[in-house]
Parts: sequence; structure tokens; C-alpha cells
Amino acid sequence: MTRPDDMQAPVILVGAMTKDRVIGKGDGMPWDIPEEYQTFIDNIRGQTVIMGRKSYEVFGPDLTSAHAIVVSRGSPDVRVPVVDSIEKALELARSFGVKIFVAGGSQIYDLAMPHTDWMFLSEIKQDYDGDKYFPEFDPSQWEVAREDEHAKFIYREWRRVNQVTV
Ligand SMILES: NC(=O)c1ccc[n+]([C@@H]2O[C@H](COP(=O)([O-])OP(=O)(O)OC[C@H]3O[C@@H](n4cnc5c(N)ncnc54)[C@H](OP(=O)(O)O)[C@@H]3O)[C@@H](O)[C@H]2O)c1
Repeated sequence: MTRPDDMQAPVILVGAMTKDRVIGKGDGMPWDIPEEYQTFIDNIRGQTVIMGRKSYEVFGPDLTSAHAIVVSRGSPDVRVPVVDSIEKALELARSFGVKIFVAGGSQIYDLAMPHTDWMFLSEIKQDYDGDKYFPEFDPSQWEVAREDEHAKFIYREWRRVNQVTV
């Protein structure tokens, strides 16, 4: 099986959600699970991250990625490139030549879903209320390439069965 490590600038959706697909409440996340957040930080280290403007305002200072790109219709005051479409974000990201992690939030996951064959998702075991959701996807169209059980979450790397990007 081809893995992201073997690919040139693969596009990977990365995030954490409950079984009900909750990813956020207001601007933030409804849980604080440092071990889970560390998996995100480790995954993006040295790679490229694409984020929506709202998520970047919250998580931008934490990013360990080599490159970050913000998607916005406006001109936010940030020190990284801002583009007005997911297509432009992906085009710029490809030029960096490293893995491309699309790190939310909800609106940007929606836009990026048709462009990806990989999702690195943590399923938070406890239920939380929220108002931001990960897009629905049909699990029969995806297979689990890796699964790691942790105390408070299950980390899975999903691969689209019928790849759309290669
Ligand atoms: N659990 C996780 O793993 C995780 C990860 C990341 C975020 N989150 C959560 O997700 C929530 C934020 O998600 P969100 O959906 O509200 O915001 P978002 O996706 O982070 O950002 C939305 C912004 O992206 C820009 N945008 C959206 N569609 C666009 C388009 N078609 N063209 C150009 N720009 C576009 C707009 O920026 P402008 O308004 O500047 O035009 C829009 O306001 C928060 O609760 C956060 O905590 C959770």
C-alpha cells in the first residue's frame, strides 16, 4: 500500500473529533487532551499546514510546521501567506514539497475533502457538546491503515479506498 511517507506532498486531513464528529465549540476545542494534541504537533512538524482563518487565529502560535497557509476571503493580519481558495492553498503548498496537512476547521475540512485520500483522525472517547463538526464521510469508502489505542482517544490513519489524487 502506498503510504504518505512514499508520496510527493500528499494531502492529509488531520484533526480530532468525538464519535458524533464534534471538533469544536465556539472558537476552541471542548476538550484538553495534551497527549492527543501532541500527536498533531508531531505529525505537522516540518511539514505544511493549511488552516481556515478562524482556526489559525487560535492555533497558529502552536504550529511546529515548516510552512503555514491561511485560507480567507479577507486580508487577515498574519505573517504567513493568505489565499482565497483551497485550490490556491494546495497549489502553493505543493511547491514546498513536504506533506500537506489540512488542519481545519470545519469549513476548510469541507473544502479540502474532495482533494484528499488520507485522514489522520483522533476519535475522542468521551462525548462533548459542540457546534463545529468534521464532514460526514462514508466509512465503506475508507480503510484504516493504522490504528493506535490511547487512554482517552483512538488515533486512526484512514486511506480512501478508490484514490482520487493519484
Ligand atoms: N478538533 C480539531 O481537530 C480542530 C482543528 C481545527 C479547528 N477546530 C475547531 O474548528 C472551529 C473553527 O472552524 P470554522 O469552520 O468555524 O472556521 P475555519 O474553517 O477555521 O475558518 C473559517 C474561515 O475560513 C475562510 N473561508 C471559509 N470558506 C472559504 C472559502 N470558500 N474561500 C475563502 N475563504 C474561506 C473564512 O475566512 P474569513 O472570514 O477571513 O474570510 C472563514 O471565516 C473551532 O471551534 C476550532 O476549535 C478543531
